[in-house]
Amino acid sequence: MTTVWQYKTSGRLSQTLSEATRPIPVPGDGEVLVEIKAAGLNPADEQLAQSTAALLWFIGATPPTSETPLVPASDFAGVVRAVGANVTEFEVGDQVHGQRFAADGNGFLCTHVVLPASAPFVKMPPGLGFVDAAAAPMAYTTVYDALTHWGRLPFPSGGLGYTILVLGGSSGTGSLAVQLSRQMGCTVVATCSTPNVELVRSLGAEDVIDYKTQDVVARARALGPYAVILDCVGGTDLIPHLDELLLEDERTPDVGIYVTIVGDNPSRDSFTGAVTNYSNPVQALRTWRGLMQDVIPRWVPGRQWVVGKRYACINVNETKDKLRTYQMFLEQGGRVLIDQVFPFGQAREAYARVESGRARGKVVVDVGTGGQARARLSAEASRAGPSSSAAA
Ligand SMILES: NC(=O)c1ccc[n+]([C@@H]2O[C@H](COP(=O)([O-])OP(=O)(O)OC[C@H]3O[C@@H](n4cnc5c(N)ncnc54)[C@H](OP(=O)(O)O)[C@@H]3O)[C@@H](O)[C@H]2O)c1
Repeated sequence: MTTVWQYKTSGRLSQTLSEATRPIPVPGDGEVLVEIKAAGLNPADEQLAQSTAALLWFIGATPPTSETPLVPASDFAGVVRAVGANVTEFEVGDQVHGQRFAADGNGFLCTHVVLPASAPFVKMPPGLGFVDAAAAPMAYTTVYDALTHWGRLPFPSGGLGYTILVLGGSSGTGSLAVQLSRQMGCTVVATCSTPNVELVRSLGAEDVIDYKTQDVVARARALGPYAVILDCVGGTDLIPHLDELLLEDERTPDVGIYVTIVGDNPSRDSFTGAVTNYSNPVQALRTWRGLMQDVIPRWVPGRQWVVGKRYACINVNETKDKLRTYQMFLEQGGRVLIDQVFPFGQAREAYARVESGRARGKVVVDVGTGGQARARLSAEASRAGPSSSAAA
């Protein structure tokens, strides 16, 4: 039997989760059975669990019921225990990690799962522990996509010298974005609250704006302009100032974009990303006008009345190829920041930590690593000072 944490009603996962057992699933043609070792938690799990049935139907997700309980968690690391026919990429015993937005309620907070071999998961980079491997996939591919696809920055890079602003530098996503931007040869400015300033600096941010004590808009204006503003928090504080904040250079017309993975509404209880364009006409118009920047040629008369600053509110677009670049990120000294690891029996407490909105880095549930592999860069280490936080 496999043990799962599941929910039958909508609400906060710290309140609704209960443990159950199910038969171990059998992989079919093109599928793989994975024994889960660690599950990485994301705010998106909460947003799925707290959405109305109507919204869930709209995005093609399943509402929870007593007959169809759902299992949360979109990131995992584990070991392949069986492969179905026609699977060539994986063998029994492979250590794998990956992600899947668990909109079908078939998430990774369980001991065994069956996945199509084509799903966005890959063999783990050598030497990486299960906890670290489970923590990164969704957060990493989201910020990788934001910076490389939307921001049009090359990775691995060569000293482009641009400045990047990361809003939310101590978050699961933001802490990876700070490091990735540095690896791309950029100067990084990041925001966070007072207790996290040294941590974010230790990740590679040259300037840290403490949003508790400083005027973010004024400081951001002084330190810009930026090739990319990557917003991992949400809100509109900087939007009226994009003319000044975004880099505009005739020689590099492709750069200069505000990319948000959240949207105008910073609430953590409702869906973030592209879907929020449907409920916010102002944001949708800004998105459209930003897109027109790349569509309407500069010589078109009256262009300035239609076109806005480049702006995108995005969803993670996870692929195996993007996840494979994580190994390069690690080889260049990158580390996922782990806030806390909870034992499998404390899944509700783990989600309470995600719900708090104060996690410094990722929250992970140890499903069965047997104590193997804590993170090499941990919030605890950072509390001891920047030098020890960078220790391998
Ligand atoms: N669109 C997508 O595909 C996608 C993918 C992944 C995540 N997301 C969304 O992105 C957001 C971040 O996700 P996450 O996993 O990184 O969240 P997280 O790690 O749980 O975020 C918590 C962090 O946010 C920081 N924070 C809160 N308010 C802040 C503010 N005003 N300024 C700066 N930092 C602030 C907190 O730092 P302090 O304690 O210092 O304030 C804390 O470190 C969530 O809303 C999530 O749903 C979207």
